Amino acid sequence: MTTRINPSILAADFVNLESELARIASADLVHVDVMDNHFVPNLTFGPQMVGRLQDVSPIPLDVHLMISDVDRWAPGYAELGAYSVTFHAEATDEPVRLARRLREIGARAGIALKPGTDAGPYLDLLPEFDQVLIMTVEPGFGGQSFMRETMPKLSQVAGAVRAAGLDVWLQVDGGISLDTIGIAAEAGADTFVAGSAVFGAEVPAERITALRDLAAT
Ligand code: DX5
Ligand code: ZN
Repeated sequence: MTTRINPSILAADFVNLESELARIASADLVHVDVMDNHFVPNLTFGPQMVGRLQDVSPIPLDVHLMISDVDRWAPGYAELGAYSVTFHAEATDEPVRLARRLREIGARAGIALKPGTDAGPYLDLLPEFDQVLIMTVEPGFGGQSFMRETMPKLSQVAGAVRAAGLDVWLQVDGGISLDTIGIAAEAGADTFVAGSAVFGAEVPAERITALRDLAAT
């Protein structure tokens, strides 16, 4: 199984993002947390900033939209050239329509579930998505503690992906560290977002390797 480590730039130095990207050159994708102070009680950046990141980043962008009104905003991120665009299930009534639109534009389409959101209603829709993001903290802030109680949901989705023979990446986001990555890998995750664990390390590149090794064992 391929293991992907996606450092979240939420934990990076926002005024030196280009050099921060150089510190994580060995990452698979760079995770970009877009927040609107409406869907979550925090605010980060929007399409203009993500467009510039897209221009300068040697690593493909994995955009995580923690915003309302995704039907209106999400396609624009795909048009910027983001490799993947993940929107929250809680933010749209028409996830399939939106996923199809994102794929049509050329991005991988992802759906994210908050810790309290049941995966059941989405299991039949899995072929419409390239990745499912199981939030392992309440979205909004970096540096929170991993919620182990989300693991049964991850296993449930992993089982459904396997049973259907799909190639859907299973991503976890929030509180992923040297201590918790193995738990999420065991439950079926293959793609790991890590903010503070990577950018809080003295040598982020070494931390990426350590996380990758732990996820693979
Ligand atoms: C939280 C964001 C995460 C965040 C993770 O709402 O979606 O991507 O950056 O940060 P850590 O790894 O520090 O928990
Ligand atoms: Zn995120």
